[in-house]
Amino acid sequence: MSSGYKMPDGFLWGSAVAAHQLEGAWDVDGKGVSIADVMLAGNKDTPRVVTDTVEPGGNYPNHRGIDFYHTYPQDFKMMKELGLKAFRTSIAWTRIFPNGDEEEPNEAGLKFYDNMIDEMLANDIEPVITLSHFEIPYHLVTEYGGFSNRKVADFFVKFADTVIRRYGDRVKYWMTFNEITNQTAWMDPHPMLQNSGLKDYAEDDAQELMYQASHYELVASALVTKHAHEIAAELHADIQVGCMLSMNPVYPASTKPEDILMAQRAMQTRYYWGDVHATGHYPNWLKNFWQHKGFHLDITEEDETILAENTVDYVAFSYYMSWTVSDTGDEWLEYNEDENHGDNPFLEKSDWGWQIDPVGIRWAMNWMWDRWHKPMFIVENGFGAYDKLTENGEVHDDYRISYFQRHIKAMEQAVVLDGIPLYGYLPWSGIDIVSASTGEMLKRYGFIYVDLDDMGEGTGKRYYKDSFKWYQKVISSNGADL
Ligand code: BG6
Repeated sequence: MSSGYKMPDGFLWGSAVAAHQLEGAWDVDGKGVSIADVMLAGNKDTPRVVTDTVEPGGNYPNHRGIDFYHTYPQDFKMMKELGLKAFRTSIAWTRIFPNGDEEEPNEAGLKFYDNMIDEMLANDIEPVITLSHFEIPYHLVTEYGGFSNRKVADFFVKFADTVIRRYGDRVKYWMTFNEITNQTAWMDPHPMLQNSGLKDYAEDDAQELMYQASHYELVASALVTKHAHEIAAELHADIQVGCMLSMNPVYPASTKPEDILMAQRAMQTRYYWGDVHATGHYPNWLKNFWQHKGFHLDITEEDETILAENTVDYVAFSYYMSWTVSDTGDEWLEYNEDENHGDNPFLEKSDWGWQIDPVGIRWAMNWMWDRWHKPMFIVENGFGAYDKLTENGEVHDDYRISYFQRHIKAMEQAVVLDGIPLYGYLPWSGIDIVSASTGEMLKRYGFIYVDLDDMGEGTGKRYYKDSFKWYQKVISSNGADL
């Protein structure tokens, strides 16, 4: 189908993944144990269990991934055939600093990413790198308390400086913390561990702890931005640092003014991280809210200066779904991500209950542009589904094509009709990988099918899905042919 729109020249059509979800080789070449390495597989009804150590015989799907550590040269060939202009992945912190607090980096880990980046470039694929994508060294969790400890933020800055200096001549686009906004759900231990390395805390302290850890992350992100710009000047390179938000629009459940007010606060709560990243300042409502809650956060004047002087170059975001919220009668408008959501009667859901809302992508882009006036980068969007490999080695994923057709069209309208600057579109995940929330292989997002199941059984062979040919056409027509 013709979309009626074409993206600007140089638009980065690509795909996105994260190291821990596909590399496997979890203990190879000096790699340390990350938080992803102690997460057992779950499924859509059973949350992933986190173990204290790596237990023999446990089903840890991130230990295997899809063995990309060894297969990436062949996989990049398929991605080149797909026509990808960019590929987003993360650098596993534990390959570079296995425990996170070493003095010197692990050369074998650095070399691995040297080779991977070179391989991408040899295939005319531009690397886009996330620095922290749910793979904090586990040692920093158990020994330091994760990002609730300022020292961990210092270790992160050191890690980031090391890799930006090493790859800055070849990598232009960087992001600091993946989906930092997920921590709005501080009442759920999963994002607390994945985003901030917080574990074994008293439940009553969770909210304050989350805000404290987030503050250290925001300062670390600002410092990384500052250092990256300095390194860029030294290397005569063009380096840009972005934040990475999980953009789930929160709509009012009705036209009742109280619902509209609550939805506004829900958006302010979820995206205050974006405010600090993009404007350098905390919003007043949040400072008042902390006071009301009796939270005493360690935020120094020096921190405030660092934040104000080093805002991000661009706003990257993932987009999967939208939510609705109703008034709770609370004058402080406290938004509880666990309890306040309702279903949107206009939207359908995926098999995992994610509400499908293509229009929301255009709404969200306008909302962010009006608020922050920063160029954007869509670095995740996609449809997790059960796919079936036929006897002829085909996968007929028309549902995925339909999802992408509608989302890409809304994105194109935001760019072409609304005039919003967008660097590129990197759908999740190009090739099937392990799901971050459930640890399943069977929740598939790729254009390339990988023959592995939830227990890691299968040949590991790659197959083209119908969506592969379709996305190839989208890219070659620069978004005109959907
Ligand atoms: C985002 C994450 O939340 O969504 C990815 O950045 C994740 O790591 C993706 O894989 C899809 O979620 P899931 O849980 O279906 O893998």
